[in-house]
Amino acid sequence: MAFPSAWLDELLHKNEIVSVVSEYVELKPKGRKLWACCPLHGEKTPSFSVSPDKQLFYCFGCHAGGTVIQFVMDMERLTFYEAVQHLANRVNMELPNEVNDREMQRQRAYKKRIIEANTEAARYYCKCFSDPAIGKDAQAYAARRGLTKEIVTRFGIGYAPDTWDSLMKLLKGKGYAEKELVEGGLLVHNESRDSTYDAFRGRLIFPILGVNGDVLGFGARVMGDEKPKYINTGDTPVYNKRNNLYGLYLHKNEKLDDLVMVEGYMDVIGLYKAGVKNAVASLGTALTQQQARLLKRFVEKVYIAYDGDAAGQNAMVRGLDILKNEGLEVRVIVFPDDLDPDEYVQVYGKEGFDRLKEGALSLNAFKLEAMVKGYDLNDENGRERYAKAACAFVASLQPIEQERYYKQIAKKTGYALDALKAQGVRSGGMQSTEQKPTSRGSLRRRIDTDEEPRDIIERTLIAACVHDPKATVYAANEKAEDLFRNEVYRAMFLAMRAQGAAFSLAKYIGELSEKDADTASAVLREEDAMENAVDTAADCIRRMKRDNEADEIASLQARLNKPDLTAEERNAVLKEITERIRANK
Ligand code: CTP
Ligand code: MN
Repeated sequence: MAFPSAWLDELLHKNEIVSVVSEYVELKPKGRKLWACCPLHGEKTPSFSVSPDKQLFYCFGCHAGGTVIQFVMDMERLTFYEAVQHLANRVNMELPNEVNDREMQRQRAYKKRIIEANTEAARYYCKCFSDPAIGKDAQAYAARRGLTKEIVTRFGIGYAPDTWDSLMKLLKGKGYAEKELVEGGLLVHNESRDSTYDAFRGRLIFPILGVNGDVLGFGARVMGDEKPKYINTGDTPVYNKRNNLYGLYLHKNEKLDDLVMVEGYMDVIGLYKAGVKNAVASLGTALTQQQARLLKRFVEKVYIAYDGDAAGQNAMVRGLDILKNEGLEVRVIVFPDDLDPDEYVQVYGKEGFDRLKEGALSLNAFKLEAMVKGYDLNDENGRERYAKAACAFVASLQPIEQERYYKQIAKKTGYALDALKAQGVRSGGMQSTEQKPTSRGSLRRRIDTDEEPRDIIERTLIAACVHDPKATVYAANEKAEDLFRNEVYRAMFLAMRAQGAAFSLAKYIGELSEKDADTASAVLREEDAMENAVDTAADCIRRMKRDNEADEIASLQARLNKPDLTAEERNAVLKEITERIRANK
């Protein structure tokens, strides 16, 4: 939700960044900034800085940066909304609307009630599981699947007895109304028979917890071969499978290097038992953007480990770009013999899994690998068609990466490296289909390895404008708004041009989406070293213009490679190129 601008102003004003950060680390002044060892990543020498005049923080080590809101988001692993709530609480500010908005209060109370009912239900299912008589079959089933007592406790696994109304009776006795239990998904109402009964019966229960530990819903597995294998809580006021990841709450207070994405409840649990404790499940659905953002709050790197069967592999391909576009580094683990992760670790253990993880494929290697499946490489025709498709894909990648993959294709098809490269060029690889990682997603921690020089130039121009409004005036005269390629920086420039000296970077960043805020706050890297802002701006603008021009020439040159070009067209293009190069000197 968007907060009213004036209210957000007051919030930022009252939560002075130095006082907030000082609650976590001790800051020491040096130059125009205050410094500390970064509380967001482990380090021994201080590279975490707070700028009191700009009300922003920036870490030169892990590249986290932004407003006090961003700091609380990173530190407490909260969403933007939660962080704002946290800061409002800290200074006793009431959230806007809340005071008068009866409807909002009613909804909040209702959600709380459903979560309470779920919590009661989870407790009841656990009790049934442990009961020597009622839980006998469930205990035997759990034992057969290798679920130890410790695992059962850790994941809150329970058993819903095979009756129509035992949960209903219990919860009604505690004062819950039938309607709210139906809406929360614990009971089912059958219209035509006008009867209401327990939603889960005679099944093993996996409670689904939100990151904050609330019981949001349940998965329920049959213990025999009946269909469907799982029944899950559907859409309720508190749960939507698209917004959640099973098992993530276990890591709320941990620093993780990476997470492993799997498909199912039993994969998370099986891996955990084998010692791979950082798996979370999308619960059988294709990954959503909401889930990707959730992951992003915890890690920078995700291993996808979907089932080895065709369905799992297809679901995986769809999910990969979603993760990448949120700025996550993605690796793909491929399991042999159609095994799922749970089955795999039962045979090969943690060591086997760690080996697979080490050999995990990069996103592009995986896509290239997945492409093979459509062709018969034992057949000359199939090899040729595969080589063409694969080269077209490789030609769209970064040059350094291309080299590696051409070699891979050469090995598979037997074609010479040169022929493959020529094929790639012909396929129109100049029109890159790759999303530039730096213009989307987060720059954080990726900045040094993956960044385009162009982004640094644009960022430096913005930094110059932040530093000195005179630079903004200069850039506006040069029509810099037409030169940007990074849309975040273009929008920032337009805001600065419009607001002049009144522009506040902290406030501006506070109103951006999380990933744009990352890009925008990277400006602070450049701002520190600035001496003459107008000169710097002039320099950046010159380079951006030259760069844009070179790009246009390159795209003209690419046109020359088109096979169907007539001699006349060819001459026209050549003439234009020559003119441009001359003008550019
Ligand atoms: N799923 C579902 N309904 C089904 C089948 C599957 O909701 N009828 C979801 C569940 O979230 C399940 C996930 O898809 O966990 C993956 O399915 P599958 O691999 O079949 O289940 P596993 O978790 O591996 O469970 P098990 O090992 O017990 O078969
Ligand atoms: Mn399984």
